[in-house]
Amino acid sequence: MGNMVMSIVGARPQFIKEAVVGAAARRLGAWRHVVVHSGQHYDVNMSDIFFTQLAMPKPDHFLGIGSGSHGRQTAEALVRVEELLLAERPDLVLVYGDTNTTVAGALAAAKLKIPVAHVEAGIRQEPKDMPEEINRVVTDHLADRLYCCSALARKNLEAEGLGARGEVVGDVMYDLFLTLRPLFRPENMKKKFGVEERPYVLATLHRDFNVDTREPLTELLKGFAELRREYGLDVVLPVHPRTRQRLKDFALEDLTAGLRLVEPLGYVELMGLLEGCTAVVTDSGGFQKEAYFAEKRALVMMPDTGWRELVEAGWHRLCAPDAQEMTRAFAALGTSVPYPAGLYGDGTAGDRVVRALAAFLGARENR
Ligand code: UD1
Repeated sequence: MGNMVMSIVGARPQFIKEAVVGAAARRLGAWRHVVVHSGQHYDVNMSDIFFTQLAMPKPDHFLGIGSGSHGRQTAEALVRVEELLLAERPDLVLVYGDTNTTVAGALAAAKLKIPVAHVEAGIRQEPKDMPEEINRVVTDHLADRLYCCSALARKNLEAEGLGARGEVVGDVMYDLFLTLRPLFRPENMKKKFGVEERPYVLATLHRDFNVDTREPLTELLKGFAELRREYGLDVVLPVHPRTRQRLKDFALEDLTAGLRLVEPLGYVELMGLLEGCTAVVTDSGGFQKEAYFAEKRALVMMPDTGWRELVEAGWHRLCAPDAQEMTRAFAALGTSVPYPAGLYGDGTAGDRVVRALAAFLGARENR
């Protein structure tokens, strides 16, 4: 148990992934597991609630970087992580996903010659200039060990000459979904959010290309109104703070009148609402997979998805932010398609990551 691994997280989806890997590391006694929270997400519903619900120990270090432009936020994280790495000298740095926190953590470690492992490696999608895609590509190229959720992710790494560092372990988010599923309470959630009477769509939106300019955001809201009118569905939309701000900036609040806008939700509430919904509309990478875990179909409001398996299987559909296209695509979601089971492992991805990394660290010690 001589090694110390520093796990760097900062944004909502990463807390979920860390909950699984951190718990496996502690359970298996693999190393001393130290958690660093960059502070990229800081509102209670974007951060603290995940720690409570997922029964995670408080982070060992909090860097308080907060929000800002991409350059500023990434730079702030880079400086603060480097200081910490110099002080603590971990044997390995663990990063997750595709956020500014991820790329900053990987870069700080790589420059200090500390090995880096990336969980959820090998995801690739268009547009190549979206911030998350830039973060993934850079992180994968910096990392020494690349843990993939699916066979496709591993193939993507091979195409970039990174195959030898890659390994398919499954998706830690699936592990968590299976573990906490007994706590999801669709009936309670329907009551709490006033959607017991009618079937509903559960929607989330936060991507820059959907919410940072007026037109797509307007079309999305009109599309939701159409789904209500055309199919008699309620639309429940937990509003990400970025989206909340844009609705105000563009004075679009009137268009949200028929929707059920709610604050960002904790994991257990969101999954409860998910299990009770008719279908999902989302631009979130994590949430489109969770929809699949819950056997719900989704309109993915992106030009492409990192989880192409889901679209290729015909389970989810890509859709442009255009009200008419949304109504048409939604109708197509109603067609029956066999559930493409088993795309993201068997619920033991966390253990696999930890065992593989323990072997990697052991081999380094014996060099
Ligand atoms: C980030 C990740 C994205 C991930 C998402 C999950 C990057 C580039 N993107 O996007 O991959 O899917 O998290 O939610 O890292 N804000 C608050 N309170 C908070 C956090 C943010 O009010 O606790 C507001 C701020 O105005 C901020 C904006 O939301 O400027 C955007 O936050 P930011 O962390 O920059 O990116 P996300 O859109 O959350």
